[in-house]
Amino acid sequence: MDITIQRTAAPKEKPAPGTPLGFGKVFTDHMFIMNYKTGQGWHNPRVVPFGDICLSPAAMCFHYGQTVFEGMKAYLGADGDILLFRPDENFKRLNVSNRRICIPAVDEDFCVQAVKTLVEVDKDWLPRDPGTCFYIRPFIIATDPALGVRPGDEYLLIILLSPSGAYYSSGLDPVKIYVEDSYVRAVRGGTGMAKTGGNYAASLVAQDEAHRQGYSQVLWLDGVEQKYVEEVGAMNVFFVLDGEVVTPALEGSGILAGITRGSCIQLLRSWGVKVSERKLAIEELADAYAGGRLLEAFGTGTAAVISPIGELKWEDHVMQIGGGAIGELTQRLYDAITDIQYGRAQGPQGWSVRVCKAD
Ligand code: PLP
Ligand code: COI
Repeated sequence: MDITIQRTAAPKEKPAPGTPLGFGKVFTDHMFIMNYKTGQGWHNPRVVPFGDICLSPAAMCFHYGQTVFEGMKAYLGADGDILLFRPDENFKRLNVSNRRICIPAVDEDFCVQAVKTLVEVDKDWLPRDPGTCFYIRPFIIATDPALGVRPGDEYLLIILLSPSGAYYSSGLDPVKIYVEDSYVRAVRGGTGMAKTGGNYAASLVAQDEAHRQGYSQVLWLDGVEQKYVEEVGAMNVFFVLDGEVVTPALEGSGILAGITRGSCIQLLRSWGVKVSERKLAIEELADAYAGGRLLEAFGTGTAAVISPIGELKWEDHVMQIGGGAIGELTQRLYDAITDIQYGRAQGPQGWSVRVCKAD
């Protein structure tokens, strides 16, 4: 399939260098769109001016949440190339989400090509301040105008580019996380392993309550016993215990298989660090804290990168981790991952994917 390109006749003003971009608030001049129709498959891939889309108020995505999304980034590499980080993994995971939500599969290689095409069209928007990048948001929605509950016959795949800075306004300062003990995020057989809007909608009330108590996000426990640690709202979690780095195993209620998570596990093991993917009871964590064995905690995610966790509140326990500073291993991982993402260091084969020259 050829991707047609319709350039905007009214380019917007780009943020001046040094302008704080925030996360996901600014959008470039163009977006990618492709349609799906049963019997026709995915068709009409195109880059068009960024703008509103017109949908029937009966469009299925508004009513029953048949939506999936991905989050990835493009970086200005040290040698002037624009780089993607493991984009194939994002579209593999998009198809995992698609399967769970009954959305037709996409061609993963073609989608990587679509991202590259869009990034190249809008490359002049790529921010250059340290720590900035394009946050890339591919998503799919069911668009049939019909109120029956069934999988759609018509979909749109859209890709947006958002020049962005850090996800947390605190940057690399440790975040405070509230361990959620009443609401649950996912249950076995549910949608926890899919990146679908409903998971995030269901998390908002807990996040809102945590915010009101001064916490950035919630750490979810398993949906049955509320005993085992699973993940944070937009990040996987890791704990540095004495002699062992522990991250919850993916099996269980359905934890999102984070690409940053997988990359960190691979890097840590290549450094000879013991990493266990296993069940981790919140009580074990509290005991480790009480015994002085909880040395570091951090979250991992595309938006959040590597984010040190400085405080965990679980019921009456307040665990202050790392004395307000980023831990040694957390910092080493942050440096290693961002060095690879920004092309300052070579990562494992295939992690860095070149798009084009930035200039
Ligand atoms: N868990 C959740 C719920 C997320 O939304 C994200 C973000 O994508 C992650 C984990 C981290 O995944 P990744 O490292 O692929 O961005
Ligand atoms: C990402 O890290 O890409 C995410 O999707 C998190 C998002 C919910 C902001």
